[in-house]
Amino acid sequence: MPDSPPSVPRRYFLETYGCQMNEYDSGLVSGMLEGLGYLATREPGEADLILVNTCSVREKAEETALDKLVSIAYHKRRNPAVRLGVLGCMAENRRESILERVPEVDLLLGPDHYDQLASALGRTSPTGPVSALGHAPSQTYAGFFPAVPSSAIAQVAIQRGCDKNCAYCIVPTTRGPERSRISGDILEEVRRLVDGGVVEINLLGQTVNAWRADISFADLLRELGKLGGLRRIRFTSPHPRHFTESVCRAMAETPSVCPHVHAPLQSGSSRVLRAMRRQYSRDQYLSILERLRRWIPDAAFTTDIIAGFPGETEEDHRETLSLMDAVRFDQAFMFAYSARPGTPAAELVETISDEEKGGRLAEIIELQRRHAYQRLDERVGMVEDVLLEGASRRDPDEWIGKTPHFRKVVLRKPEDAGPGQLLKVRILSRNGQVLRGECA
Ligand code: SAH
Ligand code: SF4
Ligand code: F3S
Repeated sequence: MPDSPPSVPRRYFLETYGCQMNEYDSGLVSGMLEGLGYLATREPGEADLILVNTCSVREKAEETALDKLVSIAYHKRRNPAVRLGVLGCMAENRRESILERVPEVDLLLGPDHYDQLASALGRTSPTGPVSALGHAPSQTYAGFFPAVPSSAIAQVAIQRGCDKNCAYCIVPTTRGPERSRISGDILEEVRRLVDGGVVEINLLGQTVNAWRADISFADLLRELGKLGGLRRIRFTSPHPRHFTESVCRAMAETPSVCPHVHAPLQSGSSRVLRAMRRQYSRDQYLSILERLRRWIPDAAFTTDIIAGFPGETEEDHRETLSLMDAVRFDQAFMFAYSARPGTPAAELVETISDEEKGGRLAEIIELQRRHAYQRLDERVGMVEDVLLEGASRRDPDEWIGKTPHFRKVVLRKPEDAGPGQLLKVRILSRNGQVLRGECA
């Protein structure tokens, strides 16, 4: 007898940790589950399927995801028919520790295997969790599209994996070698998004400006720039080395590409950069930013910095601070180095105590705060194009939007304006890391 569809729709709960790539992948997974008839729920207690999409980038990220799994496994113990699955980077490289801590897990899918979700859900295994792990170096999820988000801004993964092998980083292990989606699929996805009301896209990849498929990254930006209705294009994370003249030129010549560049630095010391295997020196990094400034004079720069890489001396740390002074980044993600088992840097002796590491990180954070304030203060009195995102959580009468430079603005919007609308806004003041403005 054929299976009759269940009269009560099945429900899934999906929690996501980690980077925008994981968020994007969760969108793919949601799209697949909804195609199978599942409905999303925010209550794990009413879900038939509980999924946690995990991150391995630092020890803290893994602890957070494991703690969540430990607590959420309660629902599976209460009702063994519930499926409990782990997705993402930890599924790929932490299978044993997950199962040791959370034996209730009965499904493990690595980042290259979400297309096997439906078949995995149809299977159970008496000998352990149903798993699909390992790198699939040609997996680009061709033909799969995430559900169109209800917001005006969407993420679009154009590249998966990473070939850079920075000494500290687990991502090449968890996500495998770099591969690029072909331009036709990307353009189709973006067209669908624009038809669904999206006006801003953020192209995703671990070294996104190294994207190359049937055309170059520069030409991809130009093609996206021709799409009517698409007002803003951003991309993250680029690698400094791949800001070639032709990429910079395409950025400058495509009006919808925002004048905001995320340029992950990691360290201001050439010696540490070499040990990190970052493929650029301090001077090369600075000249890449010069090149970008030549093409985009008003560019805003954001970055990532790691404090306390093994062997980092006080002098190396001072070089990071002096480079920050030279650039004055708008924003930075700043981290204490965290050894990741299996990476080349994990073999190095950690020469810096947690206390020193914390002290250096605090100095970096304090300097960055000063630079962020200065850069924001420079905008007071200017009129900026602000793309409205939504109402502020604290006060529904206040709306949040962003300038092309990725600066956050709070304002009272006109009655008829809504998410995705561009407004001319005069910047009146700065409050912490946020600008306040009024319609000009
Ligand atoms: N592909 C991107 C992002 C990688 S992960 C890039 O190259 O920029 C995001 C950030 O996490 C990195 O830029 C780095 O600053 C930080 N990070 C990665 N591994 C880390 C580790 N082991 N310890 C501390 N920070 C780390
Ligand atoms: Fe990690 Fe380096 Fe690749 Fe970024 S470029 S994902 S830091 S290996
Ligand atoms: Fe984390 Fe994996 Fe992203 S390790 S940062 S979720 S690529």
